[in-house]
Amino acid sequence: MTNFKEIIQKKADEYFDYMVQVRRHLHKNPEVSFKEFETTDYIRHELKKIGVETEQPLETGCVGVIEGKKPGPVIALRADIDALGMDEEGEAKAGFISERTGAAHCCGHDAHTANLLGAANILKDLESELPGKVVLIFQPAEEKLPGGARLIRESGILQKHGVEEIYGLHMNPNYAPGEIAVKAGSFMSCTVEFEIEVIGKGGHAATPHLTIDPIVMASQIITQFQTVISRTLDPTEPAVITVGKISAGSAHNVIPAKAEMIGTVRAFSMETARLIKKRMEEIIKSTTEGAGGSYKFQFIEGYPAVINDDKCTQKLSDAAYKMLGNEKVIELNRPMMAGEDFAFYQEEFPGSFFFLGSGSDEADSKWSWHHPRYNIDERAFLTGSALMAGLIFQNSIK
Ligand code: NI
Repeated sequence: MTNFKEIIQKKADEYFDYMVQVRRHLHKNPEVSFKEFETTDYIRHELKKIGVETEQPLETGCVGVIEGKKPGPVIALRADIDALGMDEEGEAKAGFISERTGAAHCCGHDAHTANLLGAANILKDLESELPGKVVLIFQPAEEKLPGGARLIRESGILQKHGVEEIYGLHMNPNYAPGEIAVKAGSFMSCTVEFEIEVIGKGGHAATPHLTIDPIVMASQIITQFQTVISRTLDPTEPAVITVGKISAGSAHNVIPAKAEMIGTVRAFSMETARLIKKRMEEIIKSTTEGAGGSYKFQFIEGYPAVINDDKCTQKLSDAAYKMLGNEKVIELNRPMMAGEDFAFYQEEFPGSFFFLGSGSDEADSKWSWHHPRYNIDERAFLTGSALMAGLIFQNSIK
């Protein structure tokens, strides 16, 4: 039996310059969430060049299919394609820095796209030996609610192609190029935003008995929130409530009519987040009503938690151990309190999301995501594209 490991690695080397060129082109021409029109045309054109037809279930983004000639599963590989609404900086990106104001690829989605196009080229070349079918998802709007992943899933296109498993990656500046980080189970948290209005009755600061002070009520609420995580949740269950902003009042001698608070909740299931919501509302309600005031409370659910399927993660690590070697595969034992809309796919299809190392001093790419200097070490493509292809050739690599 042919060992596809060397074949795939050699092809990843061959397509390295191509991936760099794609990434730099996209980097220079970023488009924000739901506005990825040129990006979509570019990707469709690149896929057409190699004979991969695409469909557009949404206004932006596209899905392509590579049909193997051997029997096997239907596996989806996903890249997100949108940029952030911000300006960027950094000499390391001279020559391909964003030419647009208010748009920049400072989360590395340009690199995810380039990497998946590289993998598509490798897989297309090996089509006569390819087991099953590969569904390539170039997904718009990871950065914006309701999340492109949710809309792609709801469009029915993945169901139509009979997707059985799904994999995706994110560049990670905390690991070196060549490395990947994987974890079964909870990987990234769900995200929720909340807004609270505490409504009292304003008046003179010297006559508090004639007012209903919203600042006192808000202070009590925030203090009581501290008991939600510590006294409502199972102590082994990680979660966060943060009030990120509080605003009320305008002068020394005035009791204002209302106070406003906004913040975020993070947990590893929406069920836990909803339990937190229930408890928060009970606290807000009893505190305001007890003082004669009232309230408004909004709890805006964002992305669910990224929960990696055990079997898929095992498959991914097996492929990574074979393709990259044991020392390059980092098995994480703690999840991360950040969100990712890939979770919407995982609500329906078993899958695994992982990190691809992209941080180095040479490339000035150790800056955090969403930092204006954010950059990637492009050598990550050698690992990322080879691993994605290796995952498909799982049973033919040693
Ligand atoms: Ni991102």
